[in-house]
Amino acid sequence: MSVLAILFISLILSNFSNKTEAKTFSFKETTIDDIHKAFKQNKLTSRQLVEFYLNEIQRSNPILKGIIEVNPDALILADKADQERKSNASKSLSRLHGIPVLVKDNIATKDKLNTTAGSLALVGSIVPQDAGVVKKLRNVGAIILGKATMTEWAASRATNLPNGWNGRLGQALDPYVASADPSGSSTGSATSVAANMVAVALGTETAGSILSPSSANSVVGIKPTVGLTSRAGVIPISHRQDTVGPICRTVTDAVEVLDVIVGFDRDDFPATKKASIYIPHGGYRQFLKADGLRDKRLGISKDFFGSNDIKTYQQHFNTLR
Ligand SMILES: *[C@@H]1O[C@H](CO)[C@@H](O)[C@H](O)[C@H]1NC(C)=O
Ligand SMILES: *[C@@H]1O[C@H](CO)[C@@H](O)[C@H](O)[C@H]1NC(C)=O
Repeated sequence: MSVLAILFISLILSNFSNKTEAKTFSFKETTIDDIHKAFKQNKLTSRQLVEFYLNEIQRSNPILKGIIEVNPDALILADKADQERKSNASKSLSRLHGIPVLVKDNIATKDKLNTTAGSLALVGSIVPQDAGVVKKLRNVGAIILGKATMTEWAASRATNLPNGWNGRLGQALDPYVASADPSGSSTGSATSVAANMVAVALGTETAGSILSPSSANSVVGIKPTVGLTSRAGVIPISHRQDTVGPICRTVTDAVEVLDVIVGFDRDDFPATKKASIYIPHGGYRQFLKADGLRDKRLGISKDFFGSNDIKTYQQHFNTLR
């Protein structure tokens, strides 16, 4: 064998080993698709994922205050999911199976977690059952990791309440700029996803409470049409406006979660029945297009920005181009 051939083979080999190394699971900024693949390839367990998030929460949450309560059973649920994956290896489990989800503190969970809308008045109260959206998450094997903090009573208590503040936990911070307004009222759902304390969260919106904190913390929120997601077990403000939606790090993730939580719920009867007619057969995921923005024209409303902000914004806009 010539020296050249040996050199060639070793180059191929080193290239190969580099690639396999690069494929080990990376926890930071991970997505549902990454996690799902890593589960399938036995590179990751739900326990490892939950342990990672619990460590991040222990490290960051005392400062960021994004999570009001951590589920004491999260690791037990993770072990159960790992067990199910082992014994059902040949079956196709949901893409959310074994994935931790943080739910806003106004969404009922019938477990050890309190459901309080951030209010001391509701600590220790007992909900009759899981909220409709939580039932749907549990049905596909998702793990409820904890409760996200929020503006107390979703800002309906007073008009001058600071965004992301409540009497139980205090003030949540924007993980990118601590002095910035983290927005609300689904504050913790957005900040915790941005800070890698979880990949998937649920928020609720009556008027801007999903979209605004998602925007302020650079994550992706979807505000579904009222009735598309069940409000059963969600502390209400307006039955004509309240809706539950996903807050994630990517559009794809938010759509995957939307697919799981939409649909009929007899505990939110007329609204979910009416809206469920419009759910596309096969779900929303089929409409995701990697080049969906090609040839689209986007407008920038410069009036909303200061002169410094618009420079930064323009840079990012050029990236989109
Ligand atoms: C997976 O296996 C468990 C037993 O470990 C069983 O109870 C469960 O129904 C199975 N799930 C699916 C989706 O097959
Ligand atoms: C729920 O509230 C009770 C106080 O009534 C508290 O003892 C308990 O630790 C809370 N649950 C969690 C998971 O923090």
